[in-house]
Amino acid sequence: FSFTELYAGVDTECPLPGTAKLDVDWSDLGFELRNTKSHIKMTYKEGEGWGPLEFVNEPYIRLHIGATSLHYGQSCFEGLKAFAHSDNSVHIFRPDENAKRLQSSCERTMMPVVPHDTFIEACNAVVKDNMAYVPPYGSNGALYLRPLMFGSGPRIGLQPADEYTFLILAIPVGDYYKGGLSPTSALVIEDYDRAAPRGVGNVKVAGNYVADLLPNMESKKKGFPIGLYLDAATQSKIEEFSTSNFIGIDNTNNKYVTPASPSVLPSITNKSLMTIAKDEGLQVEQREIKVEELAKFDECIACGTAVVVTPIGKIVKGNDIYNFSEVTGETTMKLYNRVRDIQNGVEEDKFGWNVKV
Ligand code: PLP
Ligand code: COI
Repeated sequence: FSFTELYAGVDTECPLPGTAKLDVDWSDLGFELRNTKSHIKMTYKEGEGWGPLEFVNEPYIRLHIGATSLHYGQSCFEGLKAFAHSDNSVHIFRPDENAKRLQSSCERTMMPVVPHDTFIEACNAVVKDNMAYVPPYGSNGALYLRPLMFGSGPRIGLQPADEYTFLILAIPVGDYYKGGLSPTSALVIEDYDRAAPRGVGNVKVAGNYVADLLPNMESKKKGFPIGLYLDAATQSKIEEFSTSNFIGIDNTNNKYVTPASPSVLPSITNKSLMTIAKDEGLQVEQREIKVEELAKFDECIACGTAVVVTPIGKIVKGNDIYNFSEVTGETTMKLYNRVRDIQNGVEEDKFGWNVKV
């Protein structure tokens, strides 16, 4: 693709973050879909390969009724964030990692991979074009990027499509769970599984999320904002939350413990927090975690791009109740502050995670 083509007709005058008109305050965005200036799009056709990247202003697509994404779930996505620093420069957090994970999701679902450099350029371009929608420094918000890839070509027999659409939405967001850093409670989901051991749990495909809609809604009805899944085969080990990875903190032994499992999504936030935890002198263990071990943790965290670092105050499994710190624990607070400070440009980016737009 060519830069000249991509930027043809685009204002070269780049507005500052936080200058778009919204109907809510920048510090009160929540996690809602909002219209922005544009999304970026490109199409793959068998025999032709990828076409050029282009900006699209209206949030609709024309799709064949036989598209494989609609019938057979040939669809995957990513989630990453861009943050404004105090000098109004904007930085995307670890897009390289999302580019790689998208490739693994595409391979598992028989879709063509998005070339690494194209992915990075597309992220940059969509942030630039939606610069006014980047929440301003100090608002605690971010511009959430949602890369989406799906089979847009029609098939009625079960086989991969011959046409694919890749696009990236840009949405200003704040807290995913109301209350941000105040501890929330989780319910262990006992009647359903999220992912089979050799299924698609380790990639970010649409089907994993539809499988969770009903259990998720049922746990919310019971008063639990977040659901925790166990391993499908034995129901004895902790896997992950609907939206995020699990971390247990054992302050007595100075440990950060997170599940190793072939059906858990490899979280980029978790990977970053593991690096920070080691830097803080914590011992990081990625291994199987038996449910009973919950009793040993002082703090418990849900981590991910959308949920950031969400403290879990209580986990309920049937009649068993595991209580953790009622206020945000000190280790949770430390990890949260360090990752957010790096993202906001307040702490030196010594691991090289921020990519300037
Ligand atoms: N686990 C699940 C099921 C998710 O949907 C997400 C969100 O992307 C995560 C974990 C966290 O991954 P990341 O930190 O890369 O956003
Ligand atoms: C993200 O954290 O980016 C996700 O994709 C999780 C989703 C459930 C909002």
